[in-house]
Amino acid sequence: MKILLLGGGAREHAIAWALNRSPKVEALFAAPGNPGIARFGRCFPIDPCDSAAVLDLVRATGADSVVAGPEAPLVAGVADVLREANVPVFGPGKDGAMLEGSKAFAKRFMERHGIPTAPFDIVFDMEQAEAALRKRTPPYVVKADGLAAGKGAFLPDTLEEALEICRRLLIEGELKEAGKTLVVEDFLPGTEITILAVTDGKTVRQLPSSQDHKRIFDGDRGPNTGGMGAYCPVPWADEDLLDRIQKQILEPTVRGLESEGIDFCGVIYAGLMIDSRRNCRVLEYNVRLGDPEAQVVLSAFPGDWAEVVEAACEKRLHRISWSRTEKTAVGVVLASGGYPGDYRKGYRILGIEEAEKEEGVLVFQAGTRLDSKGALVTSGGRVLTVVGIGNSLDAAREKAYGAASKIGFTDVFFRTDISAKACLPPWGTC
Ligand code: AMP
Ligand code: GLY
Repeated sequence: MKILLLGGGAREHAIAWALNRSPKVEALFAAPGNPGIARFGRCFPIDPCDSAAVLDLVRATGADSVVAGPEAPLVAGVADVLREANVPVFGPGKDGAMLEGSKAFAKRFMERHGIPTAPFDIVFDMEQAEAALRKRTPPYVVKADGLAAGKGAFLPDTLEEALEICRRLLIEGELKEAGKTLVVEDFLPGTEITILAVTDGKTVRQLPSSQDHKRIFDGDRGPNTGGMGAYCPVPWADEDLLDRIQKQILEPTVRGLESEGIDFCGVIYAGLMIDSRRNCRVLEYNVRLGDPEAQVVLSAFPGDWAEVVEAACEKRLHRISWSRTEKTAVGVVLASGGYPGDYRKGYRILGIEEAEKEEGVLVFQAGTRLDSKGALVTSGGRVLTVVGIGNSLDAAREKAYGAASKIGFTDVFFRTDISAKACLPPWGTC
């Protein structure tokens, strides 16, 4: 296989690493890629959302398939243009990407197909918003319909705050078109888990379960971020729970897509809330691997990722299988101090090679670039994901933090409690 990978974050670095391990992969290209991905294949400074440029790059490189990392190219319809030109793509077309691109679409889809999710109202003006909020009790949940880079979900404690948020979105247009339609839904108590699954439109197979850590500070305090770390698998996600998720959520999702004529090839990300009675409800769908979940899930994945991609694109996922992972992975995000607010860039990053010398350590790059002298420097909020792999959560965590301590750049910041709550399921301890 000659694969063109779209995207340039730590998730895409992990995908490149996983593809590169496969004997099936002859060449890898990336658009735009990053200095970490460049170790595995040539990177081209091309906007992955520009369908025409991506198609030209496919032709110029001789790539025979495309793997989409982030959602933006999928929501923009890049996969449709490629498929039209007979290029196989791992990632859905614009229609399937609506599951992530429109929360209102996703909620109505779940309602149509009996997929458990929080009861909701879709509102377009303040009168409807107030009526939807008054039906409910605090904390309130208000979500912008469209893509908002993780900034579109609000959980205000009072009606006044909730109304203010609706006003900012609906009237002041704070999130532009993305906030012109809102979803108001019931607050769901419980514990969150990420289930990633691969589908070819008919068969749907789970990858190891994982948990993200979205808040900036230890103990889940402070503002939300793109994700400060993750681990997999989740110790309390036992066969029974995973089986329920398969039957109540993943299979109805894929059957629902099929019945609506949406041909979906790629990843379904189910962000789930599990309550103390083991009820599973969908908080959100995404149509690609999670970041930072991919960094741990692919590190622990026991199969051949290129084979999975190929089988999904050729609609023969039913013919391949993979075992439950025996490994555990913990990923810690090293961020620029100040993130998710303002931060400085251009600091020299030292110690990656030293950290990677240790068996069971992987370092995936996100906000990095090479300066004019060829030195690796910071260029974003989330700079690296440092992954430790081990036979137990403790071993993996120790590896990840041991490696993180060897890497340095000015103002580096990371959480010290990634995976600390792994044994706290919603029903007690495991
Ligand atoms: P979303 O973008 O829909 O995943 O929402 C972002 C975050 O808000 C989730 O990861 C949850 O922590 C929280 N959240 C969203 N919807 C709900 C809900 N209905 N009940 C409780 N928490 C929620
Ligand atoms: N980890 C959350 C996401 O990828 O959307």
